[in-house]
Amino acid sequence: MKSIGVFTSGGDAPGMNACVRSVVRNALYLGLDVYGIKYGYNGMIEGDIYKMKSYSVSNIVQRGGTILKSARSKEFMTKEGRKLAYEQLSKRGIEGLIAIGGDGTFTGANIFFEEYGIPIVGAPGTIDNDLFGSDYTIGFDTAVNTALDAIDKIRDTANSHDRVFFIEVMGRHSGYIAIQCGIGGGAELVMVPETSTTIQDVITRLKEGRDRQKTSSIVVVAEGDEQGNAHEIAGKVMKELPELDIRVSTLGHIQRGGSPTSFDRILASRLGMAAVEGLVNGQKNVMVGIINDKVTYTSFKLAISKNKPINEDLMRLVDILSI
Ligand code: F6P
Repeated sequence: MKSIGVFTSGGDAPGMNACVRSVVRNALYLGLDVYGIKYGYNGMIEGDIYKMKSYSVSNIVQRGGTILKSARSKEFMTKEGRKLAYEQLSKRGIEGLIAIGGDGTFTGANIFFEEYGIPIVGAPGTIDNDLFGSDYTIGFDTAVNTALDAIDKIRDTANSHDRVFFIEVMGRHSGYIAIQCGIGGGAELVMVPETSTTIQDVITRLKEGRDRQKTSSIVVVAEGDEQGNAHEIAGKVMKELPELDIRVSTLGHIQRGGSPTSFDRILASRLGMAAVEGLVNGQKNVMVGIINDKVTYTSFKLAISKNKPINEDLMRLVDILSI
């Protein structure tokens, strides 16, 4: 293999740049040509592709977002779109790809590989930490720290006014961000899609807290929770406990931005190296991950389809720590 392409796709995540940098420099180190593909699969289809040098990735290890830009491509979901993308790669002699993204990115990569046989190695880049085959994904740690910083601030005002706050965090169908924020932020309760918590459970927990002289409470809600979003849940609780002073805060895209933590920079750099080395050594149609500090390769199919369960000890811990 002489020439590879790298792209970022789906929701951006802090640390994607550190991963791009690592891919580019590891590839150059091994004597490969590297092409940057902009705007994910859209740029692949449109030929928004440029040759990258070592200096192309200078001064980005600390930057949030992605210098390669990102997109969720509708066109790549069509046969015609993928054909155009393949032609753009062939024209430039690109023989292998490194895809940095989440489940949508790897779903596309899997189909592309099956249709055209082009070797692709994925690096898990998503704040959601929802991919089977890696203990952590790039951006998750930064997102949790950003959310925690916000929760700490909200706690100050909750405490001053004796209020109950429902704070919604991201994670799509996963409760990883919520559970970490719940433990780190001292929440009374965490609501995640992986476990079922009824509105009555919330009411009981808040009443118990009040009986123990708690004057303010934080409930962290994962956006994918089965009871609905934080506004909906808070509305139902308000009806039952009108005496409580309840507020809602949805943290939103703030969780996707900012400078990556040291953890994410190092994770991203390691995954970038392992992705390039894997591709050169014949890995294809797999996602690289780190499990128990060891590099592993998991098929795209498994990475996107198998559930990554939340450690039950973490759920128990929230309950115990909130007494
Ligand atoms: O996958 C990352 C993520 O931020 C999810 O947590 C969230 O559900 C989704 O992307 C939001 O997507 P968008 O930026 O397209 O609104």
